[in-house]
Amino acid sequence: MRLIAYVFSGTGNTRRVCEALLEEAKTHGVESELYAVRKGETPPMPEGFDGIVLGYPVHAFNAPASLLKFIKKLPKRKKGDKLPVWLMRSSGEPLRMNNASGILPARRLKRRGYEVKGEFAYVMPYNIIFRHSDKMAARMWQANCNLIKRDAKTLAEGGGTRPRVGIFRRFVAFVLRIEHLAMPVIGKCFRAKKKKCIGCGKCAKVCPQGNIIIKNGKPKFGGSCVGCMGCAFSCPTDAIRTSLLNGWRVNGAYSFEGEAATDEEVCKYCNKAYLRFFHEAGV
Ligand SMILES: Cc1cc2nc3c(=O)[nH]c(=O)nc-3n(C[C@H](O)[C@H](O)[C@H](O)COP(=O)(O)O)c2cc1C
Ligand code: SF4
Ligand code: SF4
Repeated sequence: MRLIAYVFSGTGNTRRVCEALLEEAKTHGVESELYAVRKGETPPMPEGFDGIVLGYPVHAFNAPASLLKFIKKLPKRKKGDKLPVWLMRSSGEPLRMNNASGILPARRLKRRGYEVKGEFAYVMPYNIIFRHSDKMAARMWQANCNLIKRDAKTLAEGGGTRPRVGIFRRFVAFVLRIEHLAMPVIGKCFRAKKKKCIGCGKCAKVCPQGNIIIKNGKPKFGGSCVGCMGCAFSCPTDAIRTSLLNGWRVNGAYSFEGEAATDEEVCKYCNKAYLRFFHEAGV
């Protein structure tokens, strides 16, 4: 089996999980190629592959606008020649509400002749709102590694399931899709603090939307931001101020390798949901 994976990832969480999933799938005989979803870049199309893995981070209980736009780039399939797709997502919380994020990608894929076979969900530390402890990040990673073992086998067997999403969750996700319209406006107001910015250009390099240009040694933000937080997260001097979202800014990479949080140390935010997720994943 040969798979092609397309991954949109703002701060690297989704990419990290997807790489681990494909690595594990290799042990079941699955070959794969992974491409980043970046504005202005066209990766190879899925002809000649047996299926697609489509990875994204959950943004306001939805898939990011950039991923939905990317789906439109996929060539339409001939009638009766459906290609299987597995959606894989990472989210900051293990909430069922996040299941709603697969609805729109699946609908758009169906219109183009693709069939979503299954959805894989992983929990990774927040890149917005607040910073998880590294201990929480380590426990999340342990849980994901367990889930990946199961999911890689499912992938290799061509199986999978899709969660049911009720009317209420669909409605909430629909309303929050306002984020797709709001982010380009909010993102245009991002600024780099003059005193802190060292003009290294990392933010521009990281931005998957090509939304940042470096002018006179300082970043300028355009109007195609999708709120992935890659720029603010990666800035080595924490210079970026994210307008209305500034209070929710998270800066600096997580370490996933150290000691994992015990049940008592599990973050109070969504505590029960995290504990359920960890225990169900066997950690
Ligand atoms: C704008 C924005 C909205 C988010 N909304 C949600 C959400 O609704 N539910 C959730 O569990 N996590 C949410 N998150 C957290 C991310 O999904 C999570 O940290 C993810 O692992 C980031 O992946 P990435 O590094 O590949 O971009 C949000 C993050 C951002 C930046
Ligand atoms: S990453 Fe930070 S320091 Fe580097 S150019 Fe961007 S804002 Fe300035
Ligand atoms: S400007 Fe920053 S938040 Fe917006 S898309 Fe680019 S990296 Fe992501």
